[in-house]
Amino acid sequence: MWFLLLLLWLAEGLQGPPVSYATDVYASSLEKVHFKSWMAQHQKKYSSEEYQHRLQTFVGNWRRIRAHNAGNHTFKMGLNQFSDLSFAEIKSKYLWSEPQNCSATRGNYLRGRGPYPSSVDWRKKGKFVSPVKNQGGCGSCWTFSTTGALESAIAIQTGKLLSLAEQQLVDCAQDFNNHGCQGGLPSQAFEYIRYNKGIMGEDSYPYEGQDGNCKFQPSKAIAFVKDVANITINDEEAMVEAVALYNPVSFAFEVTSDFMMYKKGIYSSTSCHKTPDKVNHAVLAVGYGEQNGIPYWIVKNSWGPQWGMNGYFLIERGKNMCGLAACASYPVPLV
Ligand SMILES: *[C@@H]1O[C@H](CO)[C@@H](O)[C@H](O)[C@H]1NC(C)=O
Ligand SMILES: *[C@@H]1O[C@H](CO)[C@@H](O)[C@H](O)[C@H]1NC(C)=O
Ligand SMILES: *[C@@H]1O[C@H](CO)[C@@H](O)[C@H](O)[C@H]1NC(C)=O
Repeated sequence: MWFLLLLLWLAEGLQGPPVSYATDVYASSLEKVHFKSWMAQHQKKYSSEEYQHRLQTFVGNWRRIRAHNAGNHTFKMGLNQFSDLSFAEIKSKYLWSEPQNCSATRGNYLRGRGPYPSSVDWRKKGKFVSPVKNQGGCGSCWTFSTTGALESAIAIQTGKLLSLAEQQLVDCAQDFNNHGCQGGLPSQAFEYIRYNKGIMGEDSYPYEGQDGNCKFQPSKAIAFVKDVANITINDEEAMVEAVALYNPVSFAFEVTSDFMMYKKGIYSSTSCHKTPDKVNHAVLAVGYGEQNGIPYWIVKNSWGPQWGMNGYFLIERGKNMCGLAACASYPVPLV
């Protein structure tokens, strides 16, 4: 063991005396400088005890990022707002802890035969995609995937880009198997909006990022759902058709620790699963394309515009990567 540690220390290039914390990794002075500047950038303050603990986690993440980026991968990793957290901490705060009945077994979407365009990007076709939002420390990704899909579907049909209230879904959509900050599904949220008779705007029902009481006012509803299209489980080609012919599509997939450090490029993973019981994060496919022979989805996330590529990521297409085709759906708006 000490031999390994010695090697690690030597590998760190002798940047100042390493400080040891029990079983933790050593942090070089260069790594400490990076941590300080990351802390400043993200306005982080810790007690001195917390500082040591966060430093260790940060250094572990940073080394993993550098090792990954030195390898031959289709995507790069980078520091972001999650860099002082372990994956266990991230999971409990930002992802679904329970399975969410993801499988849309009663798929009602009928796929044609194509062919489809080789690439589509709804962000470039007009004002059809709202700015990237930030869910904060609440497992409400499903509400952002839902509002994002409905906002785009309405904009494509009417030319009017609204911003809809995620907090209404967090507070009010429980009867449709949704659980506020503990998770939910876009397909179930579309059903809620459909039977609830509408959803309010962001301005009249602002986002709080925590569970609260339902404050829906019917007279203030501004968007409505007429029908819900559930894509048949694992029919990724149907997702392609829906995005190509109609509008962005909500989907869920399994986030593993490498995804949290995504910076740019086409995400692909061997550590995630492809089954509906493992998906833990919902997002929005706003387009697709292909680069150097690798097909990908263009996906809007809800971790703010600083994460990934201005809040977006690319993920490999055509392999049901991380179960992304397990429960895709989109709303048909009533306009
Ligand atoms: C990197 O990986 C790609 C795809 O797996 C492969 O085609 C390429 O030859 C690799 N490049 C190097 C330098 O290993
Ligand atoms: C899954 O569906 C069942 C039956 O509809 C329901 O009782 C259960 O609460 C659901 N689980 C979640 C996590 O929504
Ligand atoms: C679509 O999925 C939702 C939620 O999973 C479900 O309630 C609804 O019945 C499905 N629609 C159809 C037509 O199967």
